[in-house]
Amino acid sequence: MTARPLPLGVLASGRGSNLQAILDEIASGRLAAAVKVVVSDVAEAFALDRARRAGVPAVFVAAQGSGGKADYEKRVVAVLREHGVELVVLAGYMRICGSELLAAFPGRIFNIHPSLLPAFPGLHVQRQALEHGARFSGCTVHFVDAGVDTGPIIAQAVVPVLDADSEDTLAARILRQEHRVYPHAIRLFAEGRLRVEGRRVLVDAPAPGADDVAIVQPPLPS
Ligand code: GRF
Repeated sequence: MTARPLPLGVLASGRGSNLQAILDEIASGRLAAAVKVVVSDVAEAFALDRARRAGVPAVFVAAQGSGGKADYEKRVVAVLREHGVELVVLAGYMRICGSELLAAFPGRIFNIHPSLLPAFPGLHVQRQALEHGARFSGCTVHFVDAGVDTGPIIAQAVVPVLDADSEDTLAARILRQEHRVYPHAIRLFAEGRLRVEGRRVLVDAPAPGADDVAIVQPPLPS
């Protein structure tokens, strides 16, 4: 069965490594999706260069203007609609989604956040995890709602926090998992396998997995 590629619109403000991971997964044939447009609120965002290199339309939308946030988001929504986007993927997009975007794509906006939500939402996430002494951190893909990193959780990956970690080493360890988990979550959506019930996202026909797996940090003696 060849599924119709799911049309994606990616919003990014910076380097775009998650965008690249999604583009690579699509190019490898493992994700039945197509990035139709990349939109950035930052004219020089490297994510726009990555899009151009991949032959994807790259659009800068200025957030500054007389109409405020609603007007800005209307312009973003117009670009996304023009390209037939069905799922909006926030990938290092440094703005809070407002009512225009949320109303235009209800239940169709994903975000990735570099912590195990609901722990450590917002900014300076690795610093928060280190200062708190957490033994594990990771990343979370979630549906976007009106809050900051509060929407229903779709997928998470866990990494250990090591005593020697700096914010940078922890961020790098988490980012490697982001690049695996984000395409995976998009694939589940593209395959129609996600169902939201209140705060919970249920995955239809999940791959069988052990229900008795745990990782312990610091490790137990072998
Ligand atoms: C990632 O850590 C993501 O979790 C957070 O912003 C960062 C974006 O990185 N939302 P990139 O632009 O995808 O490289």
